[in-house]
Amino acid sequence: MAQFVPVDPFDLIIFGGTGDLSQRKLLPALFHRYLDEQIPESSRIIGTARSEMSREDYLDMAKTACHAATADATWSEEKWQNFAEMLYYQPLDISASKKDWKPLKDLVTSEKKIRVYYLATAPSLYIPTCEGLDKAGMVTSQCRVVLEKPIGRDLESAHAINEGVCAVFDESQIFRIDHYLGKETVQNLMVLRFSNSLFEPLWSRNHIDHVQITVAESLGLEGRAGYYDKSGALRDMVQNHILQLLCLIAMEPPQSMDADDIRTEKIKVLRALTRFDASTAKTQTVRGQYTEGLVEKQPAPGYLEELGEGETSNTETYVAIKADIANWRWAGVPFYLRTGKRMKHRTSEIVIQFKPVAHSIFGDTSDQPNRLVIRLQPDEAVRLFLHIKEPGPGGLHIKSLPLNLSYAESFHIRYPDAYERLLMEVVRGNLALFMRRDEVEAAWQWVDNLIEAWEASDAKPVNYTAGSEGPLASAMLLDRDGRSWWASDK
Ligand code: BG6
Repeated sequence: MAQFVPVDPFDLIIFGGTGDLSQRKLLPALFHRYLDEQIPESSRIIGTARSEMSREDYLDMAKTACHAATADATWSEEKWQNFAEMLYYQPLDISASKKDWKPLKDLVTSEKKIRVYYLATAPSLYIPTCEGLDKAGMVTSQCRVVLEKPIGRDLESAHAINEGVCAVFDESQIFRIDHYLGKETVQNLMVLRFSNSLFEPLWSRNHIDHVQITVAESLGLEGRAGYYDKSGALRDMVQNHILQLLCLIAMEPPQSMDADDIRTEKIKVLRALTRFDASTAKTQTVRGQYTEGLVEKQPAPGYLEELGEGETSNTETYVAIKADIANWRWAGVPFYLRTGKRMKHRTSEIVIQFKPVAHSIFGDTSDQPNRLVIRLQPDEAVRLFLHIKEPGPGGLHIKSLPLNLSYAESFHIRYPDAYERLLMEVVRGNLALFMRRDEVEAAWQWVDNLIEAWEASDAKPVNYTAGSEGPLASAMLLDRDGRSWWASDK
């Protein structure tokens, strides 16, 4: 049974309290933590946003959101009523020239209590919000501020946001969210690597042939065209989620689980990533954009149709990258990264492919290498593919079969959403699952360089059909190296 240790009472103020993130993730996450008795009832959750709305209307909205995210068997009207007692709403338009912070200030309780400001707004409001809080005298030593992604759209804008926020809050009070770090299987990457003596001796260029990281989504734009078309797959998924996964796979063992020990090792990986120029961007990366097709047997429009009639766009909805890490552990081991929208299935997997034995006495088995496949979603699992002899008296036939650790079969519990863990870590003041300023900026440096290289090479996205495995050029990227993408259906 999972143990839920209650956190200290807190006041949580959600800026963007009526938005999509609040409704889909934050409020349901808080409700679930309350159901598991992790949130003391003397806590307050205060939504704030531009809309004029009464507390009753906010509670109605929150109830619909929490109900939709809770299994029928778990829902309890009585528990909801108790949770609702902790919920408040206060309208505040941060973008307005004249703002009255007093009503919000009146809603927060003691200065001695932990206070969390969650900025679930457009990033352009991060600095005005922090400055407003400061001027209103609402920043105390017990405060933490949470910044949602995207933190900027390039190094310059990320740096400006960091400067503005750091002018008000100390770095130790700033929690930059990458929700992938709250996923159970992502946290398990560190346990797998650093708590099992088995892997570390194998974890380098001496035994690993290459690594693949795939985050495939079957969804399309989901009404976010305005944001996505200015962003694209590289900024939306690689700069944060995929680079975080890469760091956890590639980093040196940290000295301890202390936040700075972990983050210091991650940043070394980001700094060691090889940069691109116009020529290597052409040979080592692929940009794609989906056209209409069938996703899970349902007709799906193309990207341009989703944008609107007559729209044109060079934004990539798919990206594949052959990345190199220039250090002693990884020199010569490619990390193939790919992510795309409207792919065949929603799957996120990390594949560590090992080198063949030095001399095979069983003939050529190189088409079935040893692999460690870590499946992050939809069904969490770790599989280690080993060679075994096929039973039978005939010849000696080798087969590759997995040792299969399925989380669902091993642990019969509901998997908490990433935000549930992350919110509780913020209240506890544990920064280990959040990104430090230099980490975010180092990730942008690498991404900015690739965008410049794309611009220099005039790279246009190639088409792929919605519901497919992505563009042919992506398969060719590995084929040229005599390798192929791991087919997750296998
Ligand atoms: C978000 C991206 O950060 O992550 C979305 O902005 C993407 O475009 C989402 O769909 C994927 O998250 P998950 O948890 O569904 O894999």
